[in-house]
Amino acid sequence: MATTKGHMMAQSTKIQTLIQDALKEVGGASAQLEGVRPPDPERVEHMKALIDQLGAVRGRPLHYPYIGSGIGRGAYVELEDGSVKLDLINGIGIHVLGHSHPRVLAAALRGALGDVIIQGNLQPNREYFEFSKKILELASRRSRLKHVWLSTCGTMANENALKACRQKATPARMILAMNAAFAGRSSMMAEITDNPSFRVGLPEYHEVLRIPWFDKKDQRSIENSTRIMKEHVAKHENNICCFTFEPMQGEGGYNVAPREFFLPMLDFCREKKIPVWVDEVQTFMRTGNFFAFETLGIGDYVDVCTVAKTAQTGATFFTQEMNPKPGLISGTFSGSTAALSAGLEILEVLDKENFMGPKGKIQQIHNEFITMLKRLGETTCRGHLQDPEGMGLMVAVTPFGGVKEKVDKLAHALFKNGLICFTCGHGTYRLRFLIPAVITSEDIRTAGEIIEKSIQGLA
Ligand SMILES: Cc1ncc(COP(=O)(O)O)c(C=O)c1O
Repeated sequence: MATTKGHMMAQSTKIQTLIQDALKEVGGASAQLEGVRPPDPERVEHMKALIDQLGAVRGRPLHYPYIGSGIGRGAYVELEDGSVKLDLINGIGIHVLGHSHPRVLAAALRGALGDVIIQGNLQPNREYFEFSKKILELASRRSRLKHVWLSTCGTMANENALKACRQKATPARMILAMNAAFAGRSSMMAEITDNPSFRVGLPEYHEVLRIPWFDKKDQRSIENSTRIMKEHVAKHENNICCFTFEPMQGEGGYNVAPREFFLPMLDFCREKKIPVWVDEVQTFMRTGNFFAFETLGIGDYVDVCTVAKTAQTGATFFTQEMNPKPGLISGTFSGSTAALSAGLEILEVLDKENFMGPKGKIQQIHNEFITMLKRLGETTCRGHLQDPEGMGLMVAVTPFGGVKEKVDKLAHALFKNGLICFTCGHGTYRLRFLIPAVITSEDIRTAGEIIEKSIQGLA
């Protein structure tokens, strides 16, 4: 078979050398970011002006005074004011291999040389095919998932999931979802999201039936949630299109639940032929397996699954029976060529380099991070730091009794002191960390020192 010019370009040693040269240049600059560093006094005013202008342009100030300079090193990132911060939120979970990762950058550069910037569902290039094939192969290892459809973000992947469920269960419209769920920002996903402050002024559609999340302090939690699901189904028999849940809740508070919590509900959905849609937009790649449904051992129940963030683009997986009919889902964009190429590389790195499994790097990072938080909670930050928990690279802790104002203040103090994280939770407010899989033990020690200093500064 004759080679195409596209393959020749992909294999060109000249292009590979140019990419290697570019990476060497980036690597040299990146290596100088040795660790956390305060702003350069000469750049402070410049950064402030940028931030003020950006706030005016978008009509709302930035949450943190953050504008990246375009370079980082692993868990560290440089900002426009010349400061270097330990980034433990990663754009709310996108950069799972941290900043300026050479293999990710090389893949993005290869993608950037393609003939089109954004690929679409009508005219995909090779990256679309290779990414789809790899991610589906990973999804189908421990589930019945057979097809994947790409989209540009988690919300859009979720919209596609819901449409597939509704088409399958037509004319059913009601959705079983958990308390404190987060599903995205479109009109429909804002409805599934259990946070009224995210839909102020929007009409209510009353299409979501709530089930309480697992409560580890309540011995009857599993029984209660299953009972409430059954009551909803009895009341809305034949009008339920799906049961959707995050295997570990993100925005709702980094709430974890054991396998035993889900099983009775999943068995009941199976009995009632209610499609099960697992939202792994935040959990994908983070819990010690690619999918949290693998970590929880519930893959066989999954009919539809969604991912985004770490994948660098959105994707919806379907079993054969749930594959929607032509016309239901499409859309112009499926992802940028650079993002699809980088996404594929990230999947390969995480698949081949001992990140996954109970003895993999992700679990080791989890154990070290939790140990650090526990030690602080028992010693220098006693009484101010409680309940460190999570799964894999998703970790949260409750500072200052979970009082919103205090936790927000702490998040900003941490930022100022060089550590970027975020908050989550309803009622009890928590600090959340989306830890990059490239963090080192030394970085975790640094994180501990900054957390200790910031808490003591506010206590
Ligand atoms: C569980 C979950 N679902 C959906 C979304 C929405 O994804 P996106 O912001 O990419 O649209 C998020 C984003 O945080 C999420 O955590």
